[in-house]
Amino acid sequence: MSLDSQKEDIVSDLIKLWHSDEVKLKTGERHQRLRPEILSRLLSVVMTDDERAEYFGLPKGCRIRDGAKIISPTNLICGEHVWIGENAILDASGGLEIGAHTSIGLSVFVWSHTSQLTNLTLANFSGSPLIERKRTKIGNGVFIAGPGVILPGVTVGDKVIVAPLSVVNKDIPPYSVISGNPARIVKTLTEEDIAAERERVLSDGLGKA
Ligand SMILES: CC(C)(COP(=O)(O)OP(=O)(O)OC[C@H]1O[C@@H](n2cnc3c(N)ncnc32)[C@H](O)[C@@H]1OP(=O)(O)O)[C@@H](O)C(=O)NCCC(=O)NCCS
Repeated sequence: MSLDSQKEDIVSDLIKLWHSDEVKLKTGERHQRLRPEILSRLLSVVMTDDERAEYFGLPKGCRIRDGAKIISPTNLICGEHVWIGENAILDASGGLEIGAHTSIGLSVFVWSHTSQLTNLTLANFSGSPLIERKRTKIGNGVFIAGPGVILPGVTVGDKVIVAPLSVVNKDIPPYSVISGNPARIVKTLTEEDIAAERERVLSDGLGKA
């Protein structure tokens, strides 16, 4: 079998599957509301990271790597030059602010809602009034190494470093280096530290690929 006919078979199998009874799409308000979001994600698979960021309405210089997801993107306030890594989940359902020049690492989950009461009260259904939403804020020039979790309602100050595998459950002051579960401050940076590190990397040529 030629490569071309193999490809045609795959496309034809997909079309058959799409028209089969196994693919069931419901109608109704919720499904109509969610479908464009799902289709947007499907289309964004073929985009580069900067094309994807522009498509999702992020400002100049932002990049979203593949597999990342923004929940309720209309509630996201995002600065310029933000980088969002592969498989990061940004939940803006309760309001989310991300400052300029911040990076959200691979597989970092940033939450602005929590739903444990729906489970504890055996009322786990879509649109439950027991889902609690809290605004989450991440400052300018923050580096969040992945994987990690930022819990709802937390404010992470400017120029904070979050080490890999951290769970951030409290407000973090600017210039902190934090690590662990729950995340604790392991060091406080100064502008002089940052300037010295910048000089070191530039003079050693370590920044080159
Ligand atoms: C967190 C991180 C950024 C810190 O780097 P750094 O600023 O160069 O920090 P240093 O290694 O000089 O460490 C500073 C202090 O923090 C401590 N520290 C660093 N990482 C820590 C961690 N994960 N947990 C606890 N303490 C940590 C160090 O022990 C050191 O303490 P000391 O001053 O008492 O010796 C770095 O360790 C890291 O994890 N980078 C992530 C790399 C990555 O994810 N790359 C992929 C995408 S870019």
